[in-house]
Amino acid sequence: MSVVAVVGGQWGDEGKGKIVDMLSEKSDMVVRFSGGDNAGHTVVNPLGEFALRLVPSGIFYPQVTCIMGNGVVINPAVLLAEMDSLRQRGIDLSRLYISDRANLIMPYHLVIEGLEEEARGGRAIGTTRKGIGPAFSDKIARVGIRAGDLLDREAFRERLEHILEYKNAIITKVFGAEPLSLDDIFKEYCEYGERLAPRIRETTLMIAEALERGNKVLMEGAQGALLDPDFGTYPFATSSSPLAGEASIGAGFGPTRINYVLGIYKAYCSRVGAGPFPTEMEKETGNMIRERAYEYGVVSGRPRSCGWFDAVVARFTQRINGCTGLAITRLDILDVLPSLKICTGYELDGAIIDNFPASLAVLARCRPVYEELPGWQVPTSDIRQFEQLPPEARQYVARIEELLSCPADIISVGSAREQTIIRRAIM
Ligand code: IMO
Ligand code: MG
Repeated sequence: MSVVAVVGGQWGDEGKGKIVDMLSEKSDMVVRFSGGDNAGHTVVNPLGEFALRLVPSGIFYPQVTCIMGNGVVINPAVLLAEMDSLRQRGIDLSRLYISDRANLIMPYHLVIEGLEEEARGGRAIGTTRKGIGPAFSDKIARVGIRAGDLLDREAFRERLEHILEYKNAIITKVFGAEPLSLDDIFKEYCEYGERLAPRIRETTLMIAEALERGNKVLMEGAQGALLDPDFGTYPFATSSSPLAGEASIGAGFGPTRINYVLGIYKAYCSRVGAGPFPTEMEKETGNMIRERAYEYGVVSGRPRSCGWFDAVVARFTQRINGCTGLAITRLDILDVLPSLKICTGYELDGAIIDNFPASLAVLARCRPVYEELPGWQVPTSDIRQFEQLPPEARQYVARIEELLSCPADIISVGSAREQTIIRRAIM
């Protein structure tokens, strides 16, 4: 299929990086289309273990052109550090490009986000503090600075001067903090501009040409649908859309070009940062799963809360993404449990609902209704054929497929590339 979008169906950290790395083998182009370095995509392959934040997870294959699209916000310092570390590990970066329209994360975004999160006190969102929210706010407020702006120093300085004056007024007058220096930021970003200039392109043309040639393009999502600013647990959400629809807008091609949407769902749930989490596990099981799966933030190191598979959430996000198929990841983590729970509905004021509510106040009154399934209690990490999974594991997958009305085309049983059961070739 020529365009495949890979998107997270829960609260992020579903294992998108692993799946994109694996599918990249048969791809010609991998494009990030949303988020920024709030993403942490772990990839384990024969070249080593990598925690990618901005560079697309297709970078490990020599035939793949990697693009950070217009929908991504880029912190150039983070990108350059990530590139240096990849280069040091022998990864070829010659096919890595940045959209000239991608907005940049500026030093004041980080400062303002820190001040805002502190000011929110107990209502803090628990963001990754990478300046993501302030950068996307500026993009929409039309006061962003874009990658292409770095290519014209004079115009860049003039724009930065005007924007920084306003940002410094907020930093000093609203928060009583220290202003930032125009000269310092200008100098720093001119250096970044010089280093990144050869990679800054009109990437929509590159993608159009790839499609024209009949190339296979993989769209790498970041975050998960429940962090979407419209459909997620707002305001405990991120600031760009992690949905499949954004693959088109955040990269600059028409939605009709997307042939297949792969929804990535962990076999259980996890969440990091503040906000509701209906199926959070009882403490003992949650802690056990967290340690077994090493559920700690790639970006922030924060421990993630773990929960049972929430089919109310998953059915909703399957629908809003229009998933063609599912990838169920980390099934092996559940190998040790004697029995498993799947949330099939929420009890709300005495009635059962099966749609995910928009209002957090309503969600707070919801109690998950569970269905219990038997565990398999045998290791699955070495299994490569669906038929070889223990019957209870197949039953668990089948129940998820049934609840979501969507086939589980890929099942992941470990972090390595080859620890994968492929039931339908999708690239
Ligand atoms: P990947 O791509 C999990 C969460 C943060 C916080 C909220 C807002 O690895 O799946 P932000 O810094 O984006 O303004 O924070 O979103 N969050 C993620 N959680 N995985 C991610 O990315 C996330 N990116 C943001 O923890 O709750
Ligand atoms: Mg992650």
